Amino acid sequence: MELIALSAVSFAYPDGTRALTGIDISIGAGERVAVLGANGAGKSTLFQLFNGLLRPTMGTVTFKGRIVEKAYLKEVRRMIGMVFQDPDDQLFSNTVHQEIAYGLINLGLTGVRMEQAASWALQVAGLAGYENKSPFNLSGGEKKRVALASVLAMQPEVLVLDEPTAALDPIGAAKIIKLLNGINSELGITIVFATHDVDAVPLLADRVYVMDKGEIRLSGCTAEVFARKDLIRAHNLRLPRVAHLAELLERDGICRLPALPLTIGQARKALQEHLARGGTGNE
Ligand SMILES: Nc1ncnc2c1ncn2[C@@H]1O[C@H](COP(=O)(O)OP(=O)(O)OP(=O)(O)O)[C@@H](O)[C@H]1O
Ligand SMILES: [Mg+2]
Repeated sequence: MELIALSAVSFAYPDGTRALTGIDISIGAGERVAVLGANGAGKSTLFQLFNGLLRPTMGTVTFKGRIVEKAYLKEVRRMIGMVFQDPDDQLFSNTVHQEIAYGLINLGLTGVRMEQAASWALQVAGLAGYENKSPFNLSGGEKKRVALASVLAMQPEVLVLDEPTAALDPIGAAKIIKLLNGINSELGITIVFATHDVDAVPLLADRVYVMDKGEIRLSGCTAEVFARKDLIRAHNLRLPRVAHLAELLERDGICRLPALPLTIGQARKALQEHLARGGTGNE
């Protein structure tokens, strides 16, 4: 089932900045989709159109086939959970527990049901024990997890995350990737995320839209998109590091793998197979 769809969408900010032009996007239930683009490409602007925080200047935005407009906003915002780029834009409560409870109370949950939903989200986000801390006294990575937990508690159908791995240390980034993959596979929640972290994309996306200067320049499954090396670079991005290494090994005549590996796991398997074939160079 198609959830989020944008058709011929353009958007300009009130000061005249043309942030999006002619965007066509379709996101189906259960997908894991990356919107990849350099700084200023239009990713955050695009995400704000999904749930009606911004209205398109031209074109249409639909959720489950219905146009995202005033009368539909409450429902859309219940179904699309938005985790902002900067957790400080999202967090406002005195304690982590209040932060999670706020959205649940707004949904009409009280008492035991509210507490159960809150502790479930805290548990999933690895925040058990943080209930009474102030969100403002947490580290950047912990704040991100509180923002995620507060959205997840409401059990949205789609999680839209703006730069989920930005400002996280390597362990923190790996944890959030694992967490989001679990949320997708175990809870069936659709994941859409914006990033310029090319190394994270193959670990967390089945499909990619590449944006540059407010337009979608390339889209397809993750392997197809990264196979367009020149285009990726033309849009101020790069290949995942392991893919770049494979490219250099091939260029230097050391080994040629049948497909470009995008993750350490893929590279390891491809190299093992290459060595098992007795391959040493570009034979
Ligand atoms: N409130 C605003 N008013 C005017 N122009 C804006 C506003 N917010 C963003 N822009 C402009 O819109 C364009 C797209 O910005 P956007 O924040 O969507 O990019 P982004 O891809 O999310 O970038 P980043 O990776 O840095 O987060 C940029 O040229 C930016 O300067
Ligand atoms: Mg942004």
